[in-house]
Amino acid sequence: MLPLEETLTNLDIYLGDACNLRCIQCQCWINESAPHFDPDVLEARLFEAVEYAATQCRSFEKVMLIGGEPFIHEGMVRFLAKQKIDTCITVYTNFVWPDPNVVLPDNVYFLSSMDAPNQEIYGQLRRTRDFDYSQETMRERSGQLLHVDTTVSKGNLHHLDSILDRTKDHGCTHWFLPIDPRILRYHDAFVKDPRLGTLTERATAERTAKRAQVLLLDDDDIRVVEDFYRRCGSARTNDFETFLGIYLSSVDRFKKESFGYRPDLSVRRPNVGAQQCPGIRRYMEIGFTPDGRFIPVIHCPELTEIFDAKQGPSADSFVEVMAWENQARRRVGCQVFCGHTQFLGIDEYEGTFREVMLD
Ligand SMILES: C[S@@+](CC[C@H](N)C(=O)[O-])C[C@H]1O[C@@H](n2cnc3c(N)ncnc32)[C@H](O)[C@@H]1O
Ligand code: SF4
Ligand code: SF4
Repeated sequence: MLPLEETLTNLDIYLGDACNLRCIQCQCWINESAPHFDPDVLEARLFEAVEYAATQCRSFEKVMLIGGEPFIHEGMVRFLAKQKIDTCITVYTNFVWPDPNVVLPDNVYFLSSMDAPNQEIYGQLRRTRDFDYSQETMRERSGQLLHVDTTVSKGNLHHLDSILDRTKDHGCTHWFLPIDPRILRYHDAFVKDPRLGTLTERATAERTAKRAQVLLLDDDDIRVVEDFYRRCGSARTNDFETFLGIYLSSVDRFKKESFGYRPDLSVRRPNVGAQQCPGIRRYMEIGFTPDGRFIPVIHCPELTEIFDAKQGPSADSFVEVMAWENQARRRVGCQVFCGHTQFLGIDEYEGTFREVMLD
């Protein structure tokens, strides 16, 4: 297997769950111990990781900063504003920024979520009055906006045309992705082991999971989405087959959970083999401990099983993280595409998701 320095194209940097919204389908905002990093430490860590990727990895394409909401971290904003690194840096943001006037260099681009066409639906799904503000910030930054994702649920299913319409002048791609039941799993983990959450976290997770459950998509909804693609699909959007493949992968991913997500469906996943898996060759994710040490995030389910963990050992330098990643990835031998991996930004995944089928 080639060293990761030869093949890495995408580095995702996860800034923890802290967020300024309370979206009904997402668990990030429920986590009361989500880290708020020391700005100086975060700024220095981001310089270290991104400079390494940009200078030492010969096929490198782009960084994605994601949370929670990245723009609430002062250290990240400072890093973005100061850096002149020769690589593409994307930030996945809800555009509800504490400082909409911040000046950012031209190598900084945006990815965003947009699940509502108006304040009424935004209020139901994202539960603040920030719709106009987020749209205005998005419009002002549209020159640097690469991509928008809409999480499709029963809460916006009949408004997909007008949601797509909102980005037509921005020159960005716009994907539609199915809601998954991650918040139900989050709540279930608290039920199984109440020590995992505070009293407030457990109560909030229970209430939110109940509200999200009624938003999950059924077969009739999938047909509505198919019809939407037939009418409105274009080079700017993903296609229905990709949407369906992502939906089915998530059905497969959550099939062992006790809340019984679509037990009627049995899914077949394509063969890829570890050597072909873009996640293993090209993709890497890191996070940070609350005091700012690096953590390698394990996104490959086979590696999660091998290490019985979702993250590698914390490290004081990015060089150490890369050394651990290089060792760990050699141990993978899977044959079947797991559909668990990130796909945003790696085109190879789009084709693979199209091959996920009903058995
Ligand atoms: C977790 S957010 C982080 C970035 C930023 N806070 C935002 O919302 O744009 C990243 C993406 O995950 C999506 N997401 C959250 N919960 C989801 C769920 N249950 N199913 C599918 N997508 C979900 C959001 O809609 C958003 O597009
Ligand atoms: S804005 Fe993003 S991270 Fe925050 S709660 Fe909503 S989906 Fe989750
Ligand atoms: S389990 Fe998934 S992430 Fe891991 S090598 Fe196989 S396809 Fe890739």
